[in-house]
Amino acid sequence: MTLVTSREVLVPALEQHFAVGAFNANNMEQIQAIVEAAQEEHAPVILQVSQGAIKYAGLEFAAAMVKTAASLVDVPVVLHLDHGYDFGQNVLCLRAGFTSLMYDGSKKTFEENVAMTQKIVEIAHIAGIPVEAELGCVGQSTDKLSYEQVCAMMTDPQLAKQFIALTGADSLAIACGSVHAMQSQEAELDIERVRAIHEQIPHTPLVLHGSSGVKNESFLEAIPHGICKINVATYLNQAFVRGMQESLAQYPNEVDPRKFLSLGREYVKEAVREKIRLFGSAGTVHSGGGFHSPAKQFRSAELGPAE
Ligand code: G3H
Ligand code: ZN
Repeated sequence: MTLVTSREVLVPALEQHFAVGAFNANNMEQIQAIVEAAQEEHAPVILQVSQGAIKYAGLEFAAAMVKTAASLVDVPVVLHLDHGYDFGQNVLCLRAGFTSLMYDGSKKTFEENVAMTQKIVEIAHIAGIPVEAELGCVGQSTDKLSYEQVCAMMTDPQLAKQFIALTGADSLAIACGSVHAMQSQEAELDIERVRAIHEQIPHTPLVLHGSSGVKNESFLEAIPHGICKINVATYLNQAFVRGMQESLAQYPNEVDPRKFLSLGREYVKEAVREKIRLFGSAGTVHSGGGFHSPAKQFRSAELGPAE
């Protein structure tokens, strides 16, 4: 299928109370694993290119890999810029065929964030491409933030309403208790805050960053309150490295790197499948590539039936 925009997958997700997994596209093996899992699970998927991936693979190369991967499956695939840091980079992504942009002004003042988001939304909308913005700030686990510091950076529901009214951003990344790059699932989301933000901007898809460290129960509580894009990166990297480590240990004299990469790819695919089921997006796409209505709700066995 050709790429679709994030609007095309997030609007049904918001309406039907499921979340679309947004997985980081770092290399060919991880991209293949992500689209194969999405295809087998009949789920829409967002492949996002991070700043790290742009440094590693280059913008054009990363975009080309995602486009090729999307052309080989018949579920909707979005090519999204993750944590875009300025106007120029967003313009380059538009030119490279991205179908979803992000401007992360979370470290700027409210006014600066509004001004730059407005500017990017204006040009992106001319090209028919939606823009994710961020308000509040999702920190990094390496900063060793205290609970109080994480709380202090959370998104204010009233400001979220003002921000969306001023900028016209299509989706909003909110800070509600997660932190980037955690290596175990211990973070609990502030569900009351998610609910309050959703109440202020009920038609704006909410985005969860730093999702590798979030408890499964928190996802299930947040999804009915507007969280419909869930970004996962570290969890997939962990699976990839585990696969490589295991095969390196098993075949210490092997010199063909593809032997090591293959098991990494298998483990990433399983990790993506697990998240897709957890987020309720499995089975939401019918064979023509469109969405079932209402969405079928699949949950992993240990979490019990969908609410
Ligand atoms: O933008 C990317 C995500 O927020 C990924 O965060 O590595 O903690 O899953 P994560
Ligand atoms: Zn993030």
